[in-house]
Amino acid sequence: MDPYKHRPSSAYNTPFWTTNAGAPVWNNKSSMTVGSRGPVLLEDYQLIEKLANFTRERIPERVVHSRGASAKGFFEVTHDISNLTCADFLRAPGVRTPVIVRFSTVIHERGSPETLRDPRGFAVKFYTREGNFDLVGNNFPVFFIRDAMEFPDSIHAMKPNPKTNIQEYWRMLDYFSHHPESLLTMSFFFDDEGIPQDYRHMNGSGVHAYSLISKTGKQHLIKWHWRPTCGMKNLLEEEAIRVGGTCHSHATKDLYDSIAAGNFPEWKLFIQVMDVDHEDRFDFDPLDTTTTWPEDLFPLQPVGRLVLDKNIDNFFAENEMLAFDVGHIVPGIWYSDDKMLQTRIFAYADTQRHRIGPNYKMLPVNAPKCAYHNNHHDGYMNFMHRDEEVNYFPSRLDPVRTAEKSPIPPRVLAGKRERVVIEKENNFKPAGDRYRSWAPDRQERFVCRWVNALGDPRVTHEIRNIWIAYWSQADRSLGQKLATRLNVRPTM
Ligand code: HEM
Repeated sequence: MDPYKHRPSSAYNTPFWTTNAGAPVWNNKSSMTVGSRGPVLLEDYQLIEKLANFTRERIPERVVHSRGASAKGFFEVTHDISNLTCADFLRAPGVRTPVIVRFSTVIHERGSPETLRDPRGFAVKFYTREGNFDLVGNNFPVFFIRDAMEFPDSIHAMKPNPKTNIQEYWRMLDYFSHHPESLLTMSFFFDDEGIPQDYRHMNGSGVHAYSLISKTGKQHLIKWHWRPTCGMKNLLEEEAIRVGGTCHSHATKDLYDSIAAGNFPEWKLFIQVMDVDHEDRFDFDPLDTTTTWPEDLFPLQPVGRLVLDKNIDNFFAENEMLAFDVGHIVPGIWYSDDKMLQTRIFAYADTQRHRIGPNYKMLPVNAPKCAYHNNHHDGYMNFMHRDEEVNYFPSRLDPVRTAEKSPIPPRVLAGKRERVVIEKENNFKPAGDRYRSWAPDRQERFVCRWVNALGDPRVTHEIRNIWIAYWSQADRSLGQKLATRLNVRPTM
C-alpha cells in the first residue's frame, strides 16, 4: 500500500465509522461505562478523541475581517496591458487564471450581522502559473489613515468598547478627530455606500498604489479597481434593519444562492496608470492611502473580468483557513513605497503564522497551483511528502537552481531615517467634492447620520467642534448644516 496515496479526504471515506487512526468504531452513541449507568472509563479512547477534536474545532478568528464569505472562479484578461507588465497571467486577452475571493466586513466578530455600517473586504487570490498573487483590497477606494503605526489604534477605536463590548461611535469620533486625513473615507463610511446591499453589488479597490513592471524594467504606478457588472447597490438604514433582522448572513446567502442558481457574480477590473517619474507633479501624494487619484487625470483602463462560478465545498477549509498575504506578488507586479502597503507586506504573513501555523501555505486553499520548491519545511503540521536527501542550497548533488531574474523597480532609493507624516496632505477637498456630487436626498442622509453620531452625549463639545470645522473645510454648507442642527457655532 502506498501510504501517501490515501490523504485524508472524502474520496477515501470508508462505508463505516472509524477513529481518526482508521480503527473501526462499532458504537458511536454510547460512552463505555462500568455498568449501564457509569462511571465512564478513561480507556474510552473513541469518546476522548471525539470530544478532544470537538473542543479544538475553532482556530482564532481574524483580528479584523473575521466575518466573511468566499467563492471560487476565474479571472480573464480582456485587454492587452503587456506593454506595462510582464506578469504571465496578464500576458494576453483570453488568458484565464483560477481565483478564490473572500468578501468580509471589518470590525465585528465571526458571527456578526452582515448589514452593519462598515467597510467591506474584497480579497482576491489569483493562482497564477508563477505563484499566487493576493490582491487584498476593500470596497472603499481609500483608507482612514496613512501610516501603519496608527492601524492598531484606529481599529481599537472602531472595535467594541473594551468595557461594554459594544461598538460606540463616540470612541471612533474621538480617535479620528486627530485625523483629518480620514475625511474622504468618512465620506464613504457615513454615506449610503457604508452598507452595501450584499457582496455582489459592491465595488472593490486595491486602495494602495502598486507597480507594474514591464519586461524591460519600466515601472508604472497603478491603482486597481473592481466594478460589479450588476451595478452597485446599498441598503438604507430601515432596509438594513429588516434584512439583518431576517437573516444575519444575508450577504453570504446571496452569494451562495446566486452561484448555485448559475447567476454568476462578475466584476470588471480596471487600472489607473501613472508614470512613476511623474509622481511629484500633483497637489496630492500618489502614495497616500487617504486620497484617490482623480479619474479625469488617470482614467480607468479596462484589464479583465472576474467571474465567480463555483461555491466553496467547505467553509472551514476554504474560508476560515483561507489566508491572504499582501506580500504575495508575482513577476511583473511590485509594491509601491506606500508606507502602509510596506507594513502590510509584513503583517499578513505574521498573523497567518499565529492564527493557522507556520505551514499555512501548505493547506490546499493556500498552496500555489503551480509546481514549487524550496527548503522551508518541517515545523508544526508539515504534511508535505519529501524523499530527497539534500535540503540545503547550493548543492552539487541537487540540480535545482534559482529562477530567471524577474524585473524589480530600477529607481535609486536614498534618504535619511525619519518618522514623519506625508508632506502633501489632501484632507478636505476630495471629501467636499464627493459630498457636492450627490443628489440632495443623499446629502441629507449623510448629514442626518453625522448629526446622530455627533449628537451622542458622550461626544464632547470639543470633538463636536473639531468635526464641524473639518466638514466646513470640506464644504462650507455641510459644516453650516451640521452646526445649525447640532446648535453649535462653527469655528470656520
Ligand atoms: C498597515 C495597515 C494594516 C494592517 C496592519 C492590516 C492587518 C490585517 C490583519 C492582521 C488582517 C487579518 C488577516 C487574517 O487573519 O487573515 C487583515 C485582514 C484584511 N485586511 Fe488588513 N491591515 C491593514 C490595512 C488594510 C487596508 C488598507 C486594507 C484595504 C486595502 C485592508 C484589507 C484587508 C482585508 C480585505 C482583510 C481580510 C482578508 C481576508 O478576507 O481574509 N487592510 N488586515
